[in-house]
Amino acid sequence: MPTVATTIAELHEARARISGSLALVPTMGALHDGHLSLVRRAAAEAETVAVSIFVNPLQFGPGEDLERYPRTFEADLKACDEAGVGLVFAPTPELMYPEPPTVTVASGPMGDLLEGAHRPGHFGGMLTVVLKLFNLVRPDVAVFGRKDGQQLAMIRRMVADLNVPVRILAGETVREPDGLALSSRNRYLGPAERESALALSRALFTGRDTAAAGPAAILAAAQKELAAADDVQVDYLALVDPDTFAAVPESHRGPAVLAVAARVGTTRLIDNVVIDIG
Ligand code: PAJ
Repeated sequence: MPTVATTIAELHEARARISGSLALVPTMGALHDGHLSLVRRAAAEAETVAVSIFVNPLQFGPGEDLERYPRTFEADLKACDEAGVGLVFAPTPELMYPEPPTVTVASGPMGDLLEGAHRPGHFGGMLTVVLKLFNLVRPDVAVFGRKDGQQLAMIRRMVADLNVPVRILAGETVREPDGLALSSRNRYLGPAERESALALSRALFTGRDTAAAGPAAILAAAQKELAAADDVQVDYLALVDPDTFAAVPESHRGPAVLAVAARVGTTRLIDNVVIDIG
């Protein structure tokens, strides 16, 4: 079993016993194969892997799913054990935020785009907890999934802008055989919604198949798939620069990210693929 630290004293004690390189995989728990693929990536990079499990209240807005977010600690611990994780850090909200923080990380212009526009405050809250986790766990490397593409770009930006001494690695998105990206939120979907949710990955793959035709054609092809789906309310569909998440111009050639967010029933899902245009 991994060492489980639930207090800062326990974490410091466990950290002091780790002498070789350490990789951190930050999570909110409800672990699935997407998370575990990041753990495998981490294990290939460092001698010890730490996983943090913390549903961060600071990155949830009013009316979002903070209270009902799935919490499956015992199963998560078992999965971490089977994956060879050495340390699990599972703090409480009171431990992470003994009082409401007054100094937080500002997410800058990228924090107001796409996800940021639909979830005000989300990226500032996310970056703040990631920086706290880095300061607490002090990993050499941290691994994040491409599934949350804008999150990954924002963390890379924070690490560069603030000289955070952690190397950031990206893991590919793990999908169900039918294309649906694994997500802790998929368990909210009923059978009909699960079927509707396939429109997201279908739209992205269709867009990718249209890569040679340029940005407008890619967006139109993806949009058509989304429009054909029942019960899918699109928040955004965008073709963006992988580093800045700003929309690419029609003249753009080379890599771009096709990103989508949509509500299926009451469940909000996001997905993206990298497209090489031209
Ligand atoms: P969470 O949604 O639990 O995701 C933890 C990590 O798993 C993130 O890096 C995410 O991109 C990755 N991930 C999720 N689904 C994946 C999939 N299908 N394939 C590959 N990787 C996947 O993202 C967060 O938590 C939080 O914002 C966090 C970074 C922990 C800060 O609170």
